[in-house]
Amino acid sequence: MSEKLIDTKVITYPDPEGMKKAAELIKSGALVAFPTETVYGLGANALMPDAAEKVYRAKGRPSDNPLIIHLADARDAEKYCYVTSGFERLAKAFMPGPLTVVMKKKDIIPSTVTGGLDTVAVRIPSQIAARELISLAGVPIAAPSANLSGRPSTTSADHVISDMLGRIDMIIDGGECDIGLESTIVSFCGENKLKMLRPGKITLEMLENEGFEVELDKAVTEKLAEGERPAAPGMKYRHYAPGAPVTLIEGDSADRNAFLAPLADDKSVAIICFEEDEEIKNASNAYVIGSKNDPEGQAHRLFSMLRAFDDKDEIKQIYAPLPEKSGIGLAIFNRMLKASGYTVIKV
Ligand code: TXA
Ligand code: MG
Repeated sequence: MSEKLIDTKVITYPDPEGMKKAAELIKSGALVAFPTETVYGLGANALMPDAAEKVYRAKGRPSDNPLIIHLADARDAEKYCYVTSGFERLAKAFMPGPLTVVMKKKDIIPSTVTGGLDTVAVRIPSQIAARELISLAGVPIAAPSANLSGRPSTTSADHVISDMLGRIDMIIDGGECDIGLESTIVSFCGENKLKMLRPGKITLEMLENEGFEVELDKAVTEKLAEGERPAAPGMKYRHYAPGAPVTLIEGDSADRNAFLAPLADDKSVAIICFEEDEEIKNASNAYVIGSKNDPEGQAHRLFSMLRAFDDKDEIKQIYAPLPEKSGIGLAIFNRMLKASGYTVIKV
């Protein structure tokens, strides 16, 4: 990249003076990475037409990919989009929190931010530093995940520093993200009917419990055919891809462990497994992602693990269990499927 490096300031939350400076930077059109409960965001003033362009330059890709706008309060949404009664119900149940809702945008949001779409994605984060930054800035903050294009999303300030130092104006270190996977995204197909464009911590089951009918966008679980378009433009990219190819293994734990046994201690292979995988978990090339019964813990560790593989050049192949599709498992399934480029073997 021939672009000139910027002097990136890193502050640690809480730092009242630093946060004031961060808010000033956002207002003036600069880029500030900040923690949220899902992943770190790369924030810019969502009311400035060149915000999206700047953000994508920093991420290292030209893009038609629309950005989520982050607000401090769900009641502010009506300033930026045509709010539906369904949104109000969702806000009451899940906001602030890891849910993003797509609605028809108002003119005040520049079309550069929405990739030319007439809709805008809105989210109200619950993380304390994120909330303070948005309130202090007094403008909606457009933010994609704060990773370089093609790398897993960032879930700690160290990840952000490794991808973004020299490319943005400030990084707010707020520790590790609680959830570790990006927000659930939904749009409306009717008053009472949602389409889930991206799964996350707010699960299908949780939305159904609030009385919504939920349809899953095909792009969440399947590879789309040439020319087919996902409802969330970003879902077409091969995100979350570590340097080495990932293969997902479908089968019960006994069969999976039997398949992996000959690969134990092979330095060119990385094996992602569960705490319960007694047969394989002590191998020198095994990486325990957590208990089989703790999908939230698995979600929390997934991106850090994928990033760690990138730092180990000797790894040429990664194996992982095919995740369960229920609850937050669906989100892990979706991210792993993309990381693998849809490579699944049955054992
Ligand atoms: O948890 C999150 O959502 C994080 C944090 C920073 O809030 N943000 C995030 O942003 O994951 P990003 O840009 O990495 O992913 C946003 C996704 C993309 O797949 C994009 O296509 C979709 O949201 N999206 C944004 N606006 C949309 C719209 N108007 N209609 C449909 N999809 C939209
Ligand atoms: Mg992203």
